Parts: sequence; structure tokens; C-alpha cells
Amino acid sequence: MISEEIEKLKKEVWENFEKIQDLSHLENFRVKYLGKKGKITFLLKSLKDLSLEEKRRLGKELNELRDQLERKLKIKEREILFKEEDKDLGLDLTLPGRSFSVGTLHPLSQVIGELCDIFSRLGFEIVTGPEIETEYYNFTALNIPDWHPARDMQATFYLKNGALLRTHTSPMQIRTMLERKPPLRIIAPGKVYRCDADVRHSPMFHQLEGLMVDKDVSFADLKGVLTYFAKETFGKKTRVRFRPSYFPFTEPSLEMDIECVICKGKGCRVCGEAGWLEILGAGMVHPEVFNAVNYDTETWQGFAFGLGIERITMIKYGIDDIRMFFENHLSFLQSFK
Ligand code: PHE
Repeated sequence: MISEEIEKLKKEVWENFEKIQDLSHLENFRVKYLGKKGKITFLLKSLKDLSLEEKRRLGKELNELRDQLERKLKIKEREILFKEEDKDLGLDLTLPGRSFSVGTLHPLSQVIGELCDIFSRLGFEIVTGPEIETEYYNFTALNIPDWHPARDMQATFYLKNGALLRTHTSPMQIRTMLERKPPLRIIAPGKVYRCDADVRHSPMFHQLEGLMVDKDVSFADLKGVLTYFAKETFGKKTRVRFRPSYFPFTEPSLEMDIECVICKGKGCRVCGEAGWLEILGAGMVHPEVFNAVNYDTETWQGFAFGLGIERITMIKYGIDDIRMFFENHLSFLQSFK
């Protein structure tokens, strides 16, 4: 039966196709099956004695086999040619490629990104502003007049003509409130500068400022936002506590601690036996600050907070020397992949 012969031929064709190694091999194969006296050609010719219906069916099958084979042979031929070219060039394409290392975001950038995510989920918008500031934005408008001892709390780098390097991101509170109308909810990450340097202090470091102004914003809202931030950053089980504190631009003011991530509150070297780690300062916006930006204190309330990015990152990853962030040793940076 001719249809059985076709089946047999198909099997034979594909088996032998797989065995083709080089160009002469390929040529022999082509002649054997597709040449003038080739097996497929021969079978096609022998269809002429069959019934019309069989001729159609088997003819179609054989023609398809022929076309498919011709296509595959062309591809195979190209593959063989490429391989031989590579051999001529002395290349071995089976060798593994040379490996290269992929860079990462700096750990501080990673943490800034995470914090922006967390506060975005609470509806805070991200704003940025200048690192070179005036005394007005950095101090005066924040209720720190020039006789105020708080000006000495932050050793300031002064530039010419009364300009200075901002000592905190709090001037962004003033800039944002002057630019926009309430209600508003912003965070402002960025670089700040203080004349200070040891294992815990760097003359340049990063802060993230937060500010929310609305009708009916309360101290409870502040505590809620800060607690959410702490749990998202350090883990859901993290306990927090609030201590009264003082900042000229907030009243009342607080500092927030988290339970020491190392000893879980028992007391260790990292937390100075306290069991708690201070992570930020905050408070309700002082009426004098609202006065400076002409916000009606009868209508609007707000809270503000400021946190140190290096400090958060050091606690999160157990880093004990702030200088690691700026020395750029590759082994340190690559551990944050
Ligand atoms: N600016 C303060 C600091 O750098 C932190 C702070 C910001 C406190 C906002 C209260 C409100 O220490």
C-alpha cells in the first residue's frame, strides 16, 4: 500500500535528517530524497495510477513533506555554514560566556525608595528642595530666632552672604506651605549638613521630613502615621514608644523609639542597655510656624516629623559605622543586592 510506504518514508526522512552533520552529508540527503530520482520524487510520480480521490489526498501529504523538508534543509545549511565559519575563526560557541557583575542601588537610595513607598500609601506626596538655604527658611520661619539657643544645637556650615547648608529638611515645611494651600500631605527626602564627624555622625547625611496640614488633624493621627511607618519599615511586630521632647517648631513635641531590633528590649551594646532605639523627632506644627506662612491657626492644624535615613538604615541592617555609606567599598555595597 502506498500510504504505508509514505508513513515509513516520513519516519526514515526525519531520522536521517537529525543525523546530518556537514555540507556533503546534507547534499547526499537532498539527492537521496528530493533529487530527480529521490524517494519522495519517486513516490509522487507513482501516484499517477491511483484513483483521483487518493491522488489528491496522498499528493497533498507528499507535497507537504517535500516543502517542509526543503525549508528545514535551508535552515540546517545555514547553521552548518555558521558553525564552520566559527571554527575557522577559532571560536568555540559551547564555552560559557564571561560573567560580569550587575550594580545595585546604594543602600541609602533603596531605603529612601522604601520610605517613599510607605508614605505614598498614606497619601503623602514627595517634594524636594534646595540644599543651600537662607537663615530664614532654615531657622527664622521655623520659630528659631537668631538669639535662640537652638541655633547652636545644630553646628551649621555657613556660606557667603548669609547663605548656609541646610541643617535639616524642615525648611521644606516652610517652602511647601508658602507654595501651596492647605490641606496638604508631603514628605521631603534629601541631604542635610552639620559640622560633625565620628562613627555615628557624618558632615553630610540624609533626612526625610513629613508634614500634614488639614482641618482636625490630631496628635492621634501623628502617632498612627508614625506607628504604621515603624511597622512597615522594621516589621509588623515592632513595638514603639513616644517620649516628650522639644523642638522650637512643634508643640507638643515627641521623639519616637522602637524596641531594639538586636536584643528585643532586653538591653544590649547597640541600644546602650536601654532596650529602645530613638528613630525620629516629631510634633504638632507650632502656631508661630503657621503664622510665618500665613495659615489661619483657627482653621488648620498639622503635624511634622523628621527622621535620619542613615540611622534607619543602620538599625535595619545592623551597620555600626556611618562612614561605610560613603567609603563605597564594593564588598559593602554588593551586600545590598
Ligand atoms: N528637624 C528636626 C531635626 O533635624 C526633626 C524634626 C522635624 C522634629 C519635624 C520635629 C518635626 O532634628
